[in-house]
This record gives sequence, structure tokens and C-alpha cells, in this order.
Amino acid sequence: MRIRTFEEYQTAYKQSVDDPEGYWAEVAQQFQWKKPWKRVLSWDFNEGRTKWFEGGVLNVTENALDRHLEVRGDQAAIIWEPNDPEDSSVTITYRVLHERVCRFANVLKKYGVKKGDRVCIYLPMVPELTVAVLACARIGAIHSVVFGGFSAKSIADRINDAACTLVITSDGAYRGSKVIPMKDTVDAALVTCDTVQKVIVMTRTRTPVSMLKGRDLWWEEEVKHVDSICPAEPMDAEDELFILYTSGSTGKPKGVVHTCGGYMVYATYTFTNVFQYEPGEVYFCTADIGWITGHSYIVYGPLCSGATCVIFEGVPTYPDASRFWQIVEKHKVNILYTAPTAIRSLMSFGLDYVKNHDLSSLTKLGSVGEPINEEAWQWFKHHIGADHCPLADTWWQTETGGIMIAPLAGITPEKATFATLPLPGVQLALMDENGQELEGNGVSGNLCVKFPWPGIVRTTYGDHERCKQTYFSAYPGKYFTGDGCLRDESGYYRITGRVDDVLNVSGHRIGTAEVENAINMHLGVVESAVVGYAHDIKGQGIYAYVIAEHEPDDAEMFRKDIAATVSRIIGPIAKPDKVQFVTGLPKTRSGKIMRRILRKISEGDTGNLGDTSTLLDPNVIEEIRKGAL
Ligand code: PRX
Repeated sequence: MRIRTFEEYQTAYKQSVDDPEGYWAEVAQQFQWKKPWKRVLSWDFNEGRTKWFEGGVLNVTENALDRHLEVRGDQAAIIWEPNDPEDSSVTITYRVLHERVCRFANVLKKYGVKKGDRVCIYLPMVPELTVAVLACARIGAIHSVVFGGFSAKSIADRINDAACTLVITSDGAYRGSKVIPMKDTVDAALVTCDTVQKVIVMTRTRTPVSMLKGRDLWWEEEVKHVDSICPAEPMDAEDELFILYTSGSTGKPKGVVHTCGGYMVYATYTFTNVFQYEPGEVYFCTADIGWITGHSYIVYGPLCSGATCVIFEGVPTYPDASRFWQIVEKHKVNILYTAPTAIRSLMSFGLDYVKNHDLSSLTKLGSVGEPINEEAWQWFKHHIGADHCPLADTWWQTETGGIMIAPLAGITPEKATFATLPLPGVQLALMDENGQELEGNGVSGNLCVKFPWPGIVRTTYGDHERCKQTYFSAYPGKYFTGDGCLRDESGYYRITGRVDDVLNVSGHRIGTAEVENAINMHLGVVESAVVGYAHDIKGQGIYAYVIAEHEPDDAEMFRKDIAATVSRIIGPIAKPDKVQFVTGLPKTRSGKIMRRILRKISEGDTGNLGDTSTLLDPNVIEEIRKGAL
């Protein structure tokens, strides 16, 4: 499974294209299966259907936990670093993690959760989050983790879409200097959720909460009264493992579904190869488990690889901008996987925060979530990696389950700002505007994948047609990523950003339509249009053009109201950075908003707005241009 030289990478890549089934069967054999698969792969991209390792029976948690007990039962699986550096960190061995997962799985069972049931998890970055995720996997329940920054309405929408029967949350969460009321938010969500029968509440902040008789239970109390042994539910390779909601170009987030066998194989394979993980190394991924990066590279990939993983509860700038570097020093972190937005933010505080920390334990760096600009790449490489740590810029998506394009750390020659080459099994295609595949090097186009890999999205929960339409209809027979991409003269890939109406704000994926819908919920708003603009730290900022019911008396106040509405409907991550009030929007005669023009204005690029002849009322542009923020 491990590739150790560039020649081996080239051989593996070729083999994975010549004989994909043989290649992945060999990789999959290194996992623990209860029953071997009957068929490695069946697929039909016209229907958006893929199956890997059909007929195979396994339980992912046996691969993530049980399998390690004999060899590394007493090795740290998790090192938990709390929000406040004054509080002690906690080390959890594989043996202890196994026991906690089994106990909590028994709690879920006791309250009637069965294979195939959906469980919503809304927790801060505490070890219990990993425990909850794996406890679901243990008994075959499908977890749907909702990022702790989402609003009550977002939680409710996700719970209702999947008809979750149980919710796991905490009393509160610490995030920097703030205490966030998690249980209250869940209570507000559950007003509109009929399917939920039980809520399990873990104690973190001792924030006062109201516990509903017959529905709400305390985590700490429940785990005392159950057995510490829980047999792992036998799962078919294609049984659903989890749902994770993500934004697209339409208003409603989609429940991306991953299944047990292929996802496990792919997350683990990519983890060990991209990071060249060696036993004993300490790995720190700064993402939240509420996003796919946390699912694949805090929980499943590292644990199935027997890795030691640092989980950090807090934020990079609390109590100050040295927090990451302090964690690296304290836990002697070898591998650090973070996001360009964090790097840019920490860069802006200056080197004083870096200098006083011993970062010599670091051997490998990774970046994920958005295009990494040259300055951030160089700063990370030089000041954090002391110029000797390889830096893997990893491109992938919620839908891909694992890393797709990235250098193998220390093996693939790097090039700043390039994700470099596809991993074995990943067959890319760049498409031109006529739907033709661009051959050769030195070309740019829309990025597609033309052959399935084990981690590919299987469906969108409850609506396969949507999966087919979203990913498999733009270029028949191919999976379309939604990203634009350059293949340079040497065949290296560089992702240039989304080509659809999806924004990437601080590495968070947000649909423009979603933000517009939220803004339009405000009583004083007639209509809005949202676009992204280049933002120094966030990568993209959110720029909203809003038609108000009446000209606002106090524009600043109205802006704040709009931001509060978006926070309430989606969550604070989707708050617009700029709100410009306008009296009209540039629309075509068929009523379509010409975002191209709004995007240019938001970027301050108002010189050449291109062809505006198809606009219904070209005069609106002058007004918008004059009022640009
Ligand atoms: O636009 C790409 C960007 O993030 C999108 C996927 O977002 P999400 O599903 O939330 O997953 C993020 C973590 C894997 C992609 O379509 N993206 C992700 N990684 C990179 C990136 N863009 C450029 N370079 C990357 N390394």
C-alpha cells in the first residue's frame, strides 16, 4: 500500500489505470474483512452509480480500533488539546478509545438505534466527537455530523432531510474567548424535528441547559450503566457509513453519502501515502470533524492507519496567534495539516509569534480547502517548515471522500501553488467550453474525473437524481468537480477555484443561492444577489447586493440586521462581508442575474464589464458601480 519513491508512484499510477480493479483489490486486502468481496467494481457514470467491493462484509471500527489493540493498544490514538492552554491535554490510547466507543455504542443501542438509523452529531472538537462518530459506525448507524458553527435552522434542515432519530450534543462549546450554547441551539432546532426521540448531552462547559424529561439524557451518566463490550455490526461494503451536508449552486445543501468499504480504503490509503505516515509519528490536522477533512483525516484515515492524532478544540488565534506553534512544540508534532486561510491569518500577525517556538519536530506539512497563494505557500514552507519539510497541497472535496491531487510528501517534486499530480487511481480530464476533453499540457479547463475511485460519492441522501444532475450531467460519462484547473507544461495541476456559484470563504464551502435565500428572509429585503470577491485572509469574501423594501434610514444598522439574519438562518460563517444597497440588479431579459458583472464590480474591476447588451436595463450598472464598496 505504501509508495516510497517517485518511480514507485509512477508504476503504481500506471498499474491503477491499466488494471484499476487489480490495483484496489490489492490495497483493500490489507484491511480486515469479515467476508471477502465478490466483485471489486461496478459503475455507470451516466447514472452516477458506483459500487466498490460488493458483497464484502466489514466494520470500519474493527479496522480503526480492534485491529490495533494487540500491537499498539497502549499507543496514543488521540492527544486532545483543549481550547485553553492552561487546561491539561488528554491522551487516549487505542485501548481506551476502543472501550469508550463500545460503551457509547451500547448506549445508542439501549435507546433503540439500529443499523441504518440516522444519528445527528452536533459537538465541539472534543474526543467524544470521535467516540460518537465511531460508536455509530460500530452499530451500523449512519452519522450525520453538523459543524458546530451552524444555526438551529441548519441543524433542523439536516435532521429532517435524513429523518434522524437521535441527536448527540454538548451543553456548550469553548471557542477562543467565547462560550457557545450548543444544547440551546439543538433545542431550538428540535422544535421543528418530529423524528428525534432522544438527545444525548455531553458535559463540556457546565452551561445551564434545560433537560427534557423522556427525551434528554446525560452522556456521562449513560455510559456508566452499559457494557464495555460491543460486537461490531457486520456491514456490507456498500452500506452507508455517513452523510455529510455540503453546499452547491442551489439553495439547499446536499447530503453527500459515503459507504463503508471504499471510503475506508480510500481515506486510509491517501492518508498513509500523501503524508508518508510512519508508525509513531504525531499528526495534527487543524480542521473540524464537522467537515470532510475531519472525517477523513482526523477520524477514519489516521485511526485506520494506527496513527497518533492531535485534536484541537480551539482556534488558531486564542489566546494569541502562537497557539498552533505552541501545540506543535508541546506535543512534538511531526505532521501538520492546515488550511491556507489559517496560514494567511497567522502570517498577518508577524513572525514574533512563531519565533519563540521549537518547531524542529515537524517533518511534513499539508494544506487543504482552497487554492494556496504563492505568499502563503512560501511562508508556510520557509517559516514553519524551515525549508526542509515537504509541503503537500492537497486538492479534494466532500464528494471525493479523500485526497485526489497532491504531492506525496517528500517524493513528488513540489511546485509552489500546485497540487501537482493525481494520486494512483485518479484519472483526470480537463474539459473545454464545448464539452471536449483538452489533450496535452499547457491547458486550462473544467476539472472532471473519468473513472471511479473508491472514495467517490455514492448518492445524495434521499435524492439520487440530484446526485446525477449535479455531478454527472455537465459532461456525460464523467464526474464534474465544479472546479477550474490548469495543467501546466510539465503536466502539473493547479486548481484555480470554483466555476459554479459556490464560494469558498475561509475554506468553508457556501452556495451563493443559500446566502441569498437567507438574506431574502429579512422583512425589509426585496431581492438580493451574492457574489464572492478576493479577500486577503479568507480567500473569498461575501459581497451582497441588496434591494431594500424602502431606502434604509440607517444603512449600517440594516447591514447588521441582514448579517444577523444570515447568522440565524445558516450560521455566522455565511455572514456577508459587504452589503451594498441597490435599486435594481443587472438582469437579462429572461430574468437571470448577470453575476459576471456583479463579480467584477465587487472586485473593483469596473473598467471593462464585457458585453452588457443583453441586459434588460443597462442603466442599473452605473448606479451599482457608483455605490460599490
Ligand atoms: O474548490 C475546491 C476547494 O474546495 C472545494 C471542496 O470543498 P469541500 O467539499 O468543503 O472540501 C474541502 C476539503 C477537502 C473544491 O471544489 N479546494 C479544496 N482543496 C483545495 C481546493 N482548491 C484549491 N486547492 C486545494 N488544495
